Amino acid sequence: MALRILIPEARIQARILELGAQIDKDYPDGTLFLICILKGACYFLADLSRAIKRDAFIDFMGISSYGRGKTSSGEVKITKDLEVSLEGANVLIIEDIIDSGVTLNYLTKLLGTRKPKSIRIATLMDKPERRLRPVDVAYVGFQIPDEFVVGYGLDFDEKYRNLRDICILEPDAVEG
Ligand code: IMP
Ligand code: MG
Repeated sequence: MALRILIPEARIQARILELGAQIDKDYPDGTLFLICILKGACYFLADLSRAIKRDAFIDFMGISSYGRGKTSSGEVKITKDLEVSLEGANVLIIEDIIDSGVTLNYLTKLLGTRKPKSIRIATLMDKPERRLRPVDVAYVGFQIPDEFVVGYGLDFDEKYRNLRDICILEPDAVEG
Protein backbone atom coordinates (compact mmCIF):
# COMPACT_ATOMS: atom_id res chain seq x y z
CA MET A 1 0.00 0.00 0.00
CA ALA A 2 1.24 3.50 -0.83
CA LEU A 3 0.55 6.77 0.99
CA ARG A 4 -0.17 9.98 -0.89
CA ILE A 5 -0.59 13.24 1.05
CA LEU A 6 -4.07 14.71 0.66
CA ILE A 7 -4.02 17.37 3.40
CA PRO A 8 -0.64 18.39 4.78
CA GLU A 9 -0.16 19.14 8.47
CA ALA A 10 0.04 22.92 8.02
CA ARG A 11 -3.33 23.04 6.26
CA ILE A 12 -4.94 20.89 8.95
CA GLN A 13 -3.66 23.19 11.68
CA ALA A 14 -4.67 26.39 9.87
CA ARG A 15 -8.18 25.09 9.28
CA ILE A 16 -8.58 24.03 12.92
CA LEU A 17 -7.71 27.56 14.08
CA GLU A 18 -10.49 28.88 11.80
CA LEU A 19 -12.97 26.34 13.18
CA GLY A 20 -12.04 27.25 16.77
CA ALA A 21 -12.60 30.95 16.08
CA GLN A 22 -15.95 30.19 14.45
CA ILE A 23 -17.06 28.05 17.40
CA ASP A 24 -16.04 30.77 19.89
CA LYS A 25 -18.20 33.23 17.95
CA ASP A 26 -21.22 30.95 17.61
CA TYR A 27 -21.67 29.88 21.21
CA PRO A 28 -23.11 32.02 23.94
CA ASP A 29 -21.12 32.28 27.16
CA GLY A 30 -20.79 29.19 29.27
CA THR A 31 -19.01 25.90 29.15
CA LEU A 32 -18.92 23.84 26.00
CA PHE A 33 -18.97 20.04 26.35
CA LEU A 34 -16.64 18.49 23.78
CA ILE A 35 -17.40 14.81 23.21
CA CYS A 36 -14.59 13.06 21.37
CA ILE A 37 -15.43 9.93 19.41
CA LEU A 38 -12.60 7.46 19.95
CA LYS A 39 -10.17 6.70 18.68
CA GLY A 40 -9.91 8.59 15.40
CA ALA A 41 -10.91 12.03 16.67
CA CYS A 42 -8.38 12.23 19.51
CA TYR A 43 -5.85 14.41 17.67
CA PHE A 44 -8.61 16.64 16.30
CA LEU A 45 -10.00 17.05 19.82
CA ALA A 46 -6.54 17.91 21.18
CA ASP A 47 -5.98 20.64 18.60
CA LEU A 48 -9.55 21.96 18.27
CA SER A 49 -10.04 22.22 22.05
CA ARG A 50 -6.94 24.42 22.24
CA ALA A 51 -8.16 26.55 19.33
CA ILE A 52 -11.33 27.26 21.33
CA LYS A 53 -10.77 30.04 23.82
CA ARG A 54 -13.87 29.59 25.99
CA ASP A 55 -14.28 27.12 28.86
CA ALA A 56 -14.54 23.57 27.59
CA PHE A 57 -15.01 20.19 29.22
CA ILE A 58 -13.84 17.11 27.39
CA ASP A 59 -15.07 13.55 27.55
CA PHE A 60 -14.71 10.47 25.40
CA MET A 61 -17.08 8.03 23.82
CA GLY A 62 -16.08 4.74 22.25
CA ILE A 63 -18.10 3.58 19.29
CA SER A 64 -17.48 0.88 16.81
CA SER A 65 -19.30 0.74 13.54
CA TYR A 66 -16.41 -0.50 11.49
CA GLY A 67 -14.92 -3.92 11.69
CA ARG A 68 -11.38 -4.40 10.50
CA GLY A 69 -10.59 -3.09 7.05
CA LYS A 70 -12.31 -0.47 4.99
CA THR A 71 -15.93 -1.53 5.00
CA SER A 72 -18.60 -0.71 7.55
CA SER A 73 -20.23 -3.48 9.51
CA GLY A 74 -23.37 -1.34 9.54
CA GLU A 75 -23.78 -1.90 13.27
CA VAL A 76 -23.13 0.75 15.89
CA LYS A 77 -21.94 -0.39 19.28
CA ILE A 78 -21.07 1.73 22.34
CA THR A 79 -17.76 0.45 23.68
CA LYS A 80 -17.19 3.26 26.19
CA ASP A 81 -19.83 5.62 27.51
CA LEU A 82 -19.48 9.16 28.87
CA GLU A 83 -18.63 9.84 32.48
CA VAL A 84 -20.54 13.13 32.64
CA SER A 85 -24.21 14.02 32.47
CA LEU A 86 -25.23 16.12 29.46
CA GLU A 87 -28.31 17.61 31.05
CA GLY A 88 -28.55 21.30 30.17
CA ALA A 89 -25.16 21.25 28.40
CA ASN A 90 -24.09 22.76 25.09
CA VAL A 91 -22.66 19.64 23.47
CA LEU A 92 -20.27 19.53 20.54
CA ILE A 93 -19.56 16.05 19.17
CA ILE A 94 -16.02 15.83 17.79
CA GLU A 95 -15.61 13.30 14.97
CA ASP A 96 -12.77 12.51 12.58
CA ILE A 97 -14.73 11.75 9.44
CA ILE A 98 -18.32 11.23 8.35
CA ASP A 99 -18.78 8.58 5.74
CA SER A 100 -22.13 6.73 5.53
CA GLY A 101 -23.47 8.80 8.43
CA VAL A 102 -24.62 5.66 10.24
CA THR A 103 -22.49 6.33 13.34
CA LEU A 104 -23.42 9.96 13.88
CA ASN A 105 -27.07 9.53 12.91
CA TYR A 106 -27.31 6.99 15.71
CA LEU A 107 -25.18 8.91 18.18
CA THR A 108 -26.94 12.27 17.88
CA LYS A 109 -30.26 10.55 18.55
CA LEU A 110 -28.81 8.73 21.56
CA LEU A 111 -27.16 11.80 23.11
CA GLY A 112 -30.28 13.84 22.33
CA THR A 113 -32.21 11.69 24.82
CA ARG A 114 -29.88 12.87 27.61
CA LYS A 115 -31.48 16.34 27.68
CA PRO A 116 -28.61 18.55 26.47
CA LYS A 117 -29.41 22.21 25.89
CA SER A 118 -27.96 21.99 22.39
CA ILE A 119 -26.11 19.42 20.34
CA ARG A 120 -23.94 20.02 17.29
CA ILE A 121 -21.31 18.11 15.33
CA ALA A 122 -17.79 19.16 14.35
CA THR A 123 -16.05 16.82 11.95
CA LEU A 124 -12.56 17.19 10.55
CA MET A 125 -13.57 15.58 7.26
CA ASP A 126 -16.75 14.79 5.41
CA LYS A 127 -17.33 12.49 2.43
CA PRO A 128 -20.80 13.74 1.45
CA GLU A 129 -21.06 11.45 -1.60
CA ARG A 130 -21.09 8.41 0.65
CA ARG A 131 -24.03 9.37 2.86
CA LEU A 132 -26.64 6.69 3.57
CA ARG A 133 -28.22 8.33 6.66
CA PRO A 134 -28.82 12.05 7.12
CA VAL A 135 -26.51 13.92 9.50
CA ASP A 136 -26.74 17.61 10.33
CA VAL A 137 -23.13 18.82 10.54
CA ALA A 138 -22.41 22.29 11.92
CA TYR A 139 -18.61 22.42 11.42
CA VAL A 140 -16.64 20.67 8.68
CA GLY A 141 -12.88 20.98 8.35
CA PHE A 142 -12.56 19.56 4.85
CA GLN A 143 -14.91 17.99 2.34
CA ILE A 144 -12.99 15.20 0.68
CA PRO A 145 -13.63 12.90 -2.28
CA ASP A 146 -14.60 9.25 -1.89
CA GLU A 147 -11.12 7.99 -0.96
CA PHE A 148 -9.93 6.02 2.03
CA VAL A 149 -7.73 8.26 4.15
CA VAL A 150 -5.40 7.64 7.08
CA GLY A 151 -3.28 9.74 9.43
CA TYR A 152 -4.00 12.45 12.00
CA GLY A 153 -5.98 9.91 14.01
CA LEU A 154 -7.46 7.85 11.19
CA ASP A 155 -6.40 4.27 10.79
CA PHE A 156 -6.41 1.27 8.55
CA ASP A 157 -6.44 -1.81 10.78
CA GLU A 158 -5.16 0.40 13.66
CA LYS A 159 -2.12 1.52 11.65
CA TYR A 160 -1.13 5.04 10.49
CA ARG A 161 -2.99 7.03 13.19
CA ASN A 162 0.18 8.86 14.21
CA LEU A 163 0.99 10.32 10.78
CA ARG A 164 1.04 14.13 10.89
CA ASP A 165 -0.58 14.55 7.45
CA ILE A 166 -3.82 13.11 6.14
CA CYS A 167 -2.95 10.66 3.39
CA ILE A 168 -4.80 8.60 0.84
CA LEU A 169 -4.07 4.92 1.21
CA GLU A 170 -3.85 3.39 -2.22
CA PRO A 171 -2.86 -0.01 -3.51
CA ASP A 172 0.60 -0.13 -5.06
CA ALA A 173 0.58 0.28 -8.80
CA VAL A 174 0.85 -3.09 -10.50
CA GLU A 175 3.60 -3.15 -13.10
CA GLY A 176 3.19 -4.52 -16.60
P1 IMP B 1 -19.88 6.22 9.14
O1 IMP B 1 -20.73 5.66 10.23
O2 IMP B 1 -19.94 5.38 7.89
O3 IMP B 1 -20.14 7.68 8.87
O4 IMP B 1 -18.40 6.00 9.59
C1 IMP B 1 -17.68 6.86 10.30
C2 IMP B 1 -16.44 6.17 10.83
O5 IMP B 1 -15.86 5.29 9.85
C3 IMP B 1 -15.37 7.19 11.12
O6 IMP B 1 -15.47 7.66 12.43
C4 IMP B 1 -14.11 6.40 10.89
O7 IMP B 1 -13.75 5.72 12.06
C5 IMP B 1 -14.47 5.40 9.83
N1 IMP B 1 -14.04 5.86 8.49
C6 IMP B 1 -14.81 6.32 7.49
N2 IMP B 1 -14.10 6.67 6.41
C7 IMP B 1 -12.80 6.45 6.76
C8 IMP B 1 -11.55 6.65 6.07
O8 IMP B 1 -11.47 7.11 4.91
N3 IMP B 1 -10.43 6.31 6.76
C9 IMP B 1 -10.45 5.83 8.03
N4 IMP B 1 -11.60 5.62 8.71
C10 IMP B 1 -12.77 5.93 8.08
MG1 MG C 1 -14.36 7.11 14.05
